Amino acid sequence: MSKLDWFKEAKYGLFIHFGIYALPGGEWHGVPSPHGSEWIMKNMKIPYSEYKELAKKFDPKSFDPYYYVRNAKKWGMKYLTFTAKHHDGFAMYDTKVSDYNVMNTPYGKDIVKQLADACAEEGLTFCIYYSQMQDWEHPDGEGNNWDFDPEKKDFKRYFYDKCIPQVKELLTNYGKVGMMWFDTPYDMPEELCRELAEVVRACQPDCLINSRIGYGYGDFREVADNTIPVLSRRDVWESPMTMNSSWGYIKRDKTSKSSADVLQNLVRIVGKGGNLLLNLGPDENGLPPKVCTDALDSAGKWLEKYGDSIFGTTNIPNFPYLLPWGDLTYSAIRKTLYFHVKNYPAFPHRVLLTGLQTKVRSVTLMYDGSKLKYSQSYEPGRDEHRLYVFLPEVCPDPDDTVVAVELEGEATAQTI
Ligand code: GLC
Repeated sequence: MSKLDWFKEAKYGLFIHFGIYALPGGEWHGVPSPHGSEWIMKNMKIPYSEYKELAKKFDPKSFDPYYYVRNAKKWGMKYLTFTAKHHDGFAMYDTKVSDYNVMNTPYGKDIVKQLADACAEEGLTFCIYYSQMQDWEHPDGEGNNWDFDPEKKDFKRYFYDKCIPQVKELLTNYGKVGMMWFDTPYDMPEELCRELAEVVRACQPDCLINSRIGYGYGDFREVADNTIPVLSRRDVWESPMTMNSSWGYIKRDKTSKSSADVLQNLVRIVGKGGNLLLNLGPDENGLPPKVCTDALDSAGKWLEKYGDSIFGTTNIPNFPYLLPWGDLTYSAIRKTLYFHVKNYPAFPHRVLLTGLQTKVRSVTLMYDGSKLKYSQSYEPGRDEHRLYVFLPEVCPDPDDTVVAVELEGEATAQTI
């Protein structure tokens, strides 16, 4: 048993970026902010005295924690990560450390608490995002050089007066926390990163820490935003992704990843050994864009039927070839390889897997449970293993046709 077990099994989580930046929604007095609506204060150098006025209007009347928690479950997600404090420094919970928090808004209710309780009740793992270095409200926090003179900053004052006490509150007042999700450590001194990790571990020894705490003090690797590694990896990792162009709500963006995009990203990430943390940015009323939740609904329906090809699977580390037709996931327990056929072959209707050494027992089309023909061979001269699977003429599922290949033993792949 390792404390990483739940995370390795989870595969898919919901990220929520919600803060007072939802009110401007990526525009300040009609001028669009260049990127990421949660960065508007810094992007547009909005004085703190002006930005903080947003708190006086923050009243997300439609925010319902159960909406997010129950839907996350329905969409197939196993954990939820919420922005307790983003770079703007505003706390979305009842903190005694700073008045700059959600209790001092017309809404006046602790959002972290509501989500933590709903997660505990519904059996979803609750995780907390906390921006440990950037804090644009605190005179000594990193990032705000338009209100506060960088020469006069004493980062340690911010660190000990706000960051550490807030992290302690979050790990003391909200029950079991699955993970602390830190972000943008920049050039934070290594000893402070270590100290922060020690504080987390002292409060909740089983709480995971992502690698953005800095200097390798995390428990697993957070890859760069919206990326997928090229190679299948042996370590534990997560890829955070947006559904549209921003983390926080952005009014002018009416786009969304489609359900096919979501599934392709999920399959690719899981097939390379990682987790997908997929983001929604609720609007000022506390509701996520419908175009995004529609896509998650469809992806969730697909996962209800084909969940076995994702959950309970791992990757085959260092599988040597790219597959022109799609991706592979693998369940060691079921001794089954799953072919995710995204680019359905027009002619001939078959896919080839090169490099699999293990003997195949049977091949099933998950769409209807029918058995498919296959042929497996080994050519000693070239030292090549080949497996052909013959598919129906008509593509059963354009989003992802899944073929379950049951093996006689543990899957092993040739090294090349
Ligand atoms: C970036 C951004 C931030 C966002 C995060 C999510 O580091 O600074 O706005 O919260 O990525 O991965």
